[in-house]
Amino acid sequence: MLNIRNVSKVYGADHRLAVPRDVGLQLEAGEFCALTGASGSGKTTLMNLIGLIDRPTAGDIEIVGMNTSRMATTISAGRAVSSPAPSTGSIRI
Ligand SMILES: Nc1ncnc2c1ncn2[C@@H]1O[C@H](COP(=O)(O)OP(=O)(O)OP(=O)(O)O)[C@@H](O)[C@H]1O
Ligand SMILES: [Mg+2]
Repeated sequence: MLNIRNVSKVYGADHRLAVPRDVGLQLEAGEFCALTGASGSGKTTLMNLIGLIDRPTAGDIEIVGMNTSRMATTISAGRAVSSPAPSTGSIRI
């Protein structure tokens, strides 16, 4: 249901900071997973990537078979929050 492959997020113009770096995870519906790590290791960043608030610099995130890099995100109040990539699907939250 959730498939994360080799995901990294790079911050900063100099590309100095990469968090998370090369993360992989596969979860089926109903499975639970604890996300742990030191402060600054990228937990919130990873949740933002899974929640479509941000996009990975590298790697792929699939939710129910759809690659998030090809999704647009819309908040029900009508404010588009994320649609820089060509949109072939959408999630309404
Ligand atoms: N928008 C941003 N621009 C630049 N750097 C960022 C941005 N968001 C997070 N960072 C940096 O990325 C790293 C990871 O931050 P993140 O907030 O994901 O860590 P965290 O694991 O959630 O930390 P904590 O346990 O303190 O909540 C930190 O070094 C942080 O300063
Ligand atoms: Mg955090």
